[in-house]
Amino acid sequence: MQARRRASISERLRERFAQARRVVVLTGAGVSAESGVPTFRGGGGAAVWKGMPFSVISSAGMLQRDLAEVWAWFDYRRDILQSLSPNPAHVALARWQDRFEDFTLVTQNVDGLHQRAGSRDVVELHGSIWRARCVACGEHYDLHDEPQRTRPPACLNCGDALRPDVVLFGEMLPAGAFERALEKAETCDLFFVIGTSAVVYPAAALPEVAKSAGAYTVEINPELTPLSDLCDEVINGRAGEILPLFEVNSKS
Ligand code: APR
Repeated sequence: MQARRRASISERLRERFAQARRVVVLTGAGVSAESGVPTFRGGGGAAVWKGMPFSVISSAGMLQRDLAEVWAWFDYRRDILQSLSPNPAHVALARWQDRFEDFTLVTQNVDGLHQRAGSRDVVELHGSIWRARCVACGEHYDLHDEPQRTRPPACLNCGDALRPDVVLFGEMLPAGAFERALEKAETCDLFFVIGTSAVVYPAAALPEVAKSAGAYTVEINPELTPLSDLCDEVINGRAGEILPLFEVNSKS
């Protein structure tokens, strides 16, 4: 059955939203686009770094070959983020966490904007640009208030090099993160997929799992994706404009 496509929230979805108890939201780069964070695909501009496509600079192979260059790439992105702020999409989702009996926010984003908007306990499938970890002992470090930017930084625990705590192409997701997201997708009654091109797995499998477990699935994206036909409802719009509408009573 073809998904309902519209640029507004249907009465049916409003009812589902009002009655929902267990809700899961999966977000991608598109949810941060209105904050000024370039997306990866669809001409978002973050495609190249010094002539390299992001899938090369953000790869396990690059980490082996040139750790310093990987640091330079993530330092560049972190510096951009310093001057950007969460947008109404992040703010709306932060409010949802206290609205439902069981709410889970799963993100592919490493930018930390959900947390800055007040979201707690975010399932970070691809790690965080605001953390580093030791390549040897696995010790984690917060990069928010780095006293001094030495590159690559050394582990205070074992002295080995630190790397950005971000999942690179060719690497496994952080232990437990995907399993937790999967468990929630299997038992939710409403699943939103927002601002992702849905081409990167295993993240893109989560809406499929939720749908086959009987959840009402909703996609919010200005463009159609490989998930659009699977979803019960597709809202072709920008997350920062659509998500705040859930707070607005349809009658007003
Ligand atoms: N609101 C909602 N969606 C938007 C908006 C917006 N304002 N602007 C753009 N989009 C949509 C685009 O149409 C596109 O479908 O967001 C999607 C962004 O897709 P990608 O750039 O491919 O980002 P994402 O799906 O998050 O990438 C997945 O791939 O590059 C790796 O690890 C990286 O986490 C990333 C993963």
